[in-house]
Amino acid sequence: MQPRDLSALTPYEAGRGIEEVAREVGIDPDDLVKLSSNENPHGPSPAAVEAMREHADGVHHYPKAAHADLQDALAERWDLAPEQVWLANGGDGALDYLARAMLDPDDPVLVPDPGFAYYAMSVRYHHGRVNTYPLHKEEDFEQRPEHVLDAYDGERVVYLISPHSPTGREIPREAILEIADGVDDETVVLVDEAYGAFSEAPSKVDLVRERDDVAVLRTFSKSHGLAGVRLGYLLAPESWADAYARINTPFAVNELALRAGLAALEDDDHVEHSVESATWAREFIHDNLATRTWPSQGNFVLAEVGDAEAVFEAAKERGVIVRDASSFGLPGCIRITCGTRAETTRAVEVLNEVLAMRDPHGATGGAPPDAAGGGFGMDGPRPPTDGPDDVGDE
Ligand SMILES: Cc1ncc(COP(=O)(O)O)c(C=O)c1O
Repeated sequence: MQPRDLSALTPYEAGRGIEEVAREVGIDPDDLVKLSSNENPHGPSPAAVEAMREHADGVHHYPKAAHADLQDALAERWDLAPEQVWLANGGDGALDYLARAMLDPDDPVLVPDPGFAYYAMSVRYHHGRVNTYPLHKEEDFEQRPEHVLDAYDGERVVYLISPHSPTGREIPREAILEIADGVDDETVVLVDEAYGAFSEAPSKVDLVRERDDVAVLRTFSKSHGLAGVRLGYLLAPESWADAYARINTPFAVNELALRAGLAALEDDDHVEHSVESATWAREFIHDNLATRTWPSQGNFVLAEVGDAEAVFEAAKERGVIVRDASSFGLPGCIRITCGTRAETTRAVEVLNEVLAMRDPHGATGGAPPDAAGGGFGMDGPRPPTDGPDDVGDE
């Protein structure tokens, strides 16, 4: 007995867990700096932790009231109707719901390359087909409407990421509009704002209010520090929002995640602190890493390092875990998550040491940042104390 033919499906390559790596390199987990999964280095909102504790003894009931309450709270926040909020088991779950709602077998979708691996995975699980549009390093990974529209061939869903992972680049509102206007009426444009809270640009949720062909994805995993509870949502246009009731898993989100989400949503201080900290860290990495980096609007920075696997391994041996960006389709690059001030400073030190050892005279390392040439973020080192005062070294 075997499952159906799964050969076209690939397992998701998650960033390695802290315990796993600590055991492998023989380091105390507390001494490891894990900057590989774009998690929130300041932990979850304390209010969310408290809410989960408070409701833990009620989990013998199915979650019903809290689901409606969180839909209502998010609807109010985004000025939409509650049924337009498709709560799910993480943003990944919301991507699954979109695929379930949109795709007939063999329907094609259009995803960015490089981009987030789960789009294609989710679509294939739902018997769809995956086409790609390119983002070019020479254009600093701009998601240009012409690249999307040149590749477009009647696909059912077009996936855009803003800020894009792993590059950190925003897609402007006008570009989204050009794409949405340039595709067929029956194509939905998904704007993935998993990292939206970290961006200086406003959410594109206004397009969900105004049009029937743009949906927005958000998650509590990053800015709210709730990656472990798995809570995300799609904001769907009013005209097809009722599809959620037909396609969602009964009790789509667990009780504790819902309670955590409700509390975290009220905890503006935690989100503000997280965003301020990430803003400092991304600038610090960009300014001080002795190799080419790209300006980022997310809680991470993409860096060109040559042999990414070797750099990843050498940094890991020194207790710093970053992400080899090959899994995103970007060989030669690593993605560094914004940590606390102490974590970020240490990561930059370690990576600079590794780069200098590997390439003492080359363009990707060794030379002082302002002499390395050819890249961005070469404004010379900045003292690590340059962050906002309330972004502590916790
Ligand atoms: C671009 C992007 N979209 C969506 C997600 C899904 O996040 P989650 O399922 O944790 O909400 C991620 C996770 O890293 C991501 O990077």
